[in-house]
Amino acid sequence: MRLQGKHTLVTGGASGLGEAMVRRFVAEGASVIIADIDAAAGQALADELGEASRFARLDVTSEADWQSVLRTVDRLDVVVNNAGITTFGSIEDVTLDQFRHEMDIDAIGVFLGCKFTIPLMKAHGGSLINISSMCGVRAQPDLLAYNAAKAAVIHMTKSIALHCARQGYGIRCNTILPGLIVTPIQDKVLAQTDDPKAVYDGWVAGHPIGRLGKPEEIAAMAVYLASDESAFTTGAEFRVDGGSSL
Ligand SMILES: NC(=O)c1ccc[n+]([C@@H]2O[C@H](COP(=O)([O-])OP(=O)(O)OC[C@H]3O[C@@H](n4cnc5c(N)ncnc54)[C@H](O)[C@@H]3O)[C@@H](O)[C@H]2O)c1
Repeated sequence: MRLQGKHTLVTGGASGLGEAMVRRFVAEGASVIIADIDAAAGQALADELGEASRFARLDVTSEADWQSVLRTVDRLDVVVNNAGITTFGSIEDVTLDQFRHEMDIDAIGVFLGCKFTIPLMKAHGGSLINISSMCGVRAQPDLLAYNAAKAAVIHMTKSIALHCARQGYGIRCNTILPGLIVTPIQDKVLAQTDDPKAVYDGWVAGHPIGRLGKPEEIAAMAVYLASDESAFTTGAEFRVDGGSSL
């Protein structure tokens, strides 16, 4: 029960890494708001987990959604800005609309998530956990927009961490950089490629540990960052990537 009594919110909590974090946070004694645009999956997960969690429909790119969801919240101790998409394509392929859409969800969504929840935490402290990617430090030719958005998350995390520390809020802000983890997002990426099998085999080969990761392995890092065990940790990047960023 490492998160006993903590009030938490996980964006993109209806699927993949977010779902794994929601399940683990509840198992560790937290209450969790599952914030997602996928109402069917989010509500089903909340129904399964019982009174420790509830679903809230939230598009992370919408200021109005953040305001309306947070109007009903008295206290937050932990926020995981996890919702994201992956746009496949090089500088020559990606359109301006695609680039803006990627930045909107993966970078601006994190900005809004921190901006709107800090006021609910600053009286008592808390933990902001931003999900970047090893693609935020290792560039790939076919992930132009995703590389840019995830690099933005890493640097924004450090700026937020410094601001909160200097203001004396007791709010930590850290980022997790997952390697490739087996979740539905990968099917969405593979569907955008010409040769999905070759791309998948290349992914495995890019992880020195010899396999892709599991969502629970990211959730384990998130529990550490959400708990008081990480009280002296802020502005840090945690690579959970099977060595793929080396
Ligand atoms: N799976 C990986 O290999 C991997 C690796 C590195 C980083 N990540 C990052 O982890 C995060 C989660 O990825 P995942 O693999 O679990 O993906 P996923 O597709 O399984 O889940 C993403 C969730 O985000 C939600 N979502 C999408 N747009 C949203 C929006 N505008 N507002 C609110 N919710 C929205 C989706 O409905 C979905 O429930 C993403 O930020 C992703 O970039 C994933």
